[in-house]
Amino acid sequence: MNLPLQPPVAIPGTGHVPTGTGTPRIDGRAKVTGQARYAAEWPATDLVYGVAVNSTIAKGRILGFSLQEAEAVPGVLKIITHLNRPHMRGNGLFYKDMTAPAGKPFRALYDDVVRYSGQPVALVLAETFEAAREAAGRVETHYEVEEHDTNLLAAMGRAREPRKMKAGFSAPPKDKGDPTAAFANAPHQVVADFYHGVEHHNPMELFASTVIRDADGHLTIYDKTQGSQNSRWYVSQVFGLPKKKVTVRNPYVGGAFGSGLRPQYQLPLAVMGSLALERSVRVVLTRQQMFTFGHRPETVQRVKLAADADGTLRSISHDAVAETSRFEDYVEVVVNWSGQLYACDNVHLGYKLVDLDQYTPIDMRAPGAAHGMHALEVAMDELAADIGMDPLALRLKNYAEVNPADGKPFSTKALRDCYRLGAERFGWSDRAPLPRARREGHEWVGWGMATGQWDALQMFARAHARLHADGRLVVSSAASDIGTGTYTVMSMIAAEALGLPLEQVSFQMGDSTLPVAPIEGGSSHVTTVGSAVQGACEKLQKQLLALARKQGRAAFARARVHDLVFARGSMALRDDPGSAVPLTALLADGQLDGIEAKYLLLPNLLEQRKFVRATHSAVFVEVRVDEELGTVRVMRVVSAVAAGRILNPTTARSQIVGGVIWGIGEALHEHSEADHRFGRFMNHDLAQYHVSVNADIHDIDVLFADEDDRVVSSLGAKGVGEIGLVGVSAAVSNAIYHATGKRVRSTPITPDKVM
Ligand code: MOS
Repeated sequence: MNLPLQPPVAIPGTGHVPTGTGTPRIDGRAKVTGQARYAAEWPATDLVYGVAVNSTIAKGRILGFSLQEAEAVPGVLKIITHLNRPHMRGNGLFYKDMTAPAGKPFRALYDDVVRYSGQPVALVLAETFEAAREAAGRVETHYEVEEHDTNLLAAMGRAREPRKMKAGFSAPPKDKGDPTAAFANAPHQVVADFYHGVEHHNPMELFASTVIRDADGHLTIYDKTQGSQNSRWYVSQVFGLPKKKVTVRNPYVGGAFGSGLRPQYQLPLAVMGSLALERSVRVVLTRQQMFTFGHRPETVQRVKLAADADGTLRSISHDAVAETSRFEDYVEVVVNWSGQLYACDNVHLGYKLVDLDQYTPIDMRAPGAAHGMHALEVAMDELAADIGMDPLALRLKNYAEVNPADGKPFSTKALRDCYRLGAERFGWSDRAPLPRARREGHEWVGWGMATGQWDALQMFARAHARLHADGRLVVSSAASDIGTGTYTVMSMIAAEALGLPLEQVSFQMGDSTLPVAPIEGGSSHVTTVGSAVQGACEKLQKQLLALARKQGRAAFARARVHDLVFARGSMALRDDPGSAVPLTALLADGQLDGIEAKYLLLPNLLEQRKFVRATHSAVFVEVRVDEELGTVRVMRVVSAVAAGRILNPTTARSQIVGGVIWGIGEALHEHSEADHRFGRFMNHDLAQYHVSVNADIHDIDVLFADEDDRVVSSLGAKGVGEIGLVGVSAAVSNAIYHATGKRVRSTPITPDKVM
């Protein structure tokens, strides 16, 4: 069963597409023809189907089960609970996923404790999916119920400092200056309270794991995850299985947005089933069950801003309180950007948690920034209105040339260009200064804008590259493509490095046995894996030069690698096109099947730490608000983004468009509603959990400012995954104010709030 994965390759005739050239995704054809297989679609002989049973209480203990009725369903093979599960190692320090926050992670079917509503309590295994589902509905669980608490707003008094910080998370810095006095003494003051409810990721692809068991007991697991090596690690650690016994694959992922950063419970359940029955097992979660794990946390914020009459910011104060579970401290950067975005001498930033009887929140696209930047940017709009200043002029007045917190320079920061490009394209200079200025028919028309910022990260990764005698280049790394365009951009980077047509290059990823790569998250795959791919290919360049020398090719006798050009399948001296020699000729003369290089990318932390590294955006929005119904239509969005060099403008634009659409959904539609009597999310399907649909989306215009950031990555790229979302919901909110004169400080901004 463990055949090598076949990575997608560009169609013949694609030719040379240097980075910076818009290139359609090379996996597009496999996806639209159904050849791209997702986790639930891998075939296995003699497959067993598993269906999870979820807790109906939010807190308590499992006293026992009545299983007779379920076991009587024809085709049922076994029902696994904490009472008869296969061995799992203790829930200690190391036996968890690589991405777990501080605390003691929840472990499916580990013990009799119910920690949240919807927690899996049993797994039904059957010969058919239908039998498993039918039996799952007949499992009776007996509980001892304890009182639960899932209501953040009622529990704000319990807000506390996060107990431990996860690696990479920066706690808010200490106060700068005297924000309280500066606020009191300034002529213009804004105090604004914000509320954001829970949101769930809802990727199209359901969470699924197909565990294919070989005769020798090796498990090949097709898992929906943003990191095959994280899932592999988790399974090995939790079940005590040697690394060699487990391979995890995720060649195609149908969206994830952060929900796949940690293994979800279908993975250990499917493994348990396979271990218990010694067969192949598939577990797919339902859409409803995808509301029983991590989510964007409910967040309460207060922003206080004060400024002089000319708009100079005197004081910024931003406090956030977010929920976490009882067992882990999920933390995200909510308030820190408020100390980075605008120059100000007096800053207070605070961040606290309240633990609830809920599952631990998890990163969701632009975690922290989505809520934090929303609050700051709506408050800035309020301040502009209070002063009587144009909102864009207020931002420019307080533009931070260096990081206000510590005076560090930005590695690059073309935010000023974003403001200018975006404003020009949008026509911002025609904006009426006061709200309720434009009415067309029964609709008020309003314009709003906001700024976005996100981190530009680089992690470490390995890549291998092999140039075959026939001129094919194969590069590999255990990266993921969650729909972002990883296959395409990595192939482009490699093809450009060796001057090959794109269809001659393939990028192997999505397999835990490949060279180490990080989880696809934090908008860092291009800066990280892309740089490793580049590094491996540069090593091949050196080997090709050495071959030419060894073969006595006089033109190259004194050449160094930076004197070379790799183009049209050949290597040549930059100054002497006549010296060109096909790469295939170099290999043929050397009687080689191929040449190989391995590369380890380690970020240059000493250099990087001298700078603040961030991506930026300026978002401009036009809304129409129905006067009688309070419905909001977002007619136009211009998003101008500065994210370093844009290696593939086609897929980068798609990332930003997706972020804008999500931002509109965040502003107007998305909200997981809990009924606190049950401690459960009630609108747990796409009929009741509203996301933006086609009818909600009109013109979206994406612009990229020129940037080239060699501090963040050798490719000049900074990453585009998350910046597209940041600032959008604030710009929508600000446009609604401009249209109606009404300020709504909680999301989603539903008609009842606008009326
Ligand atoms: Mo992203 S929330 O880092 O997948």
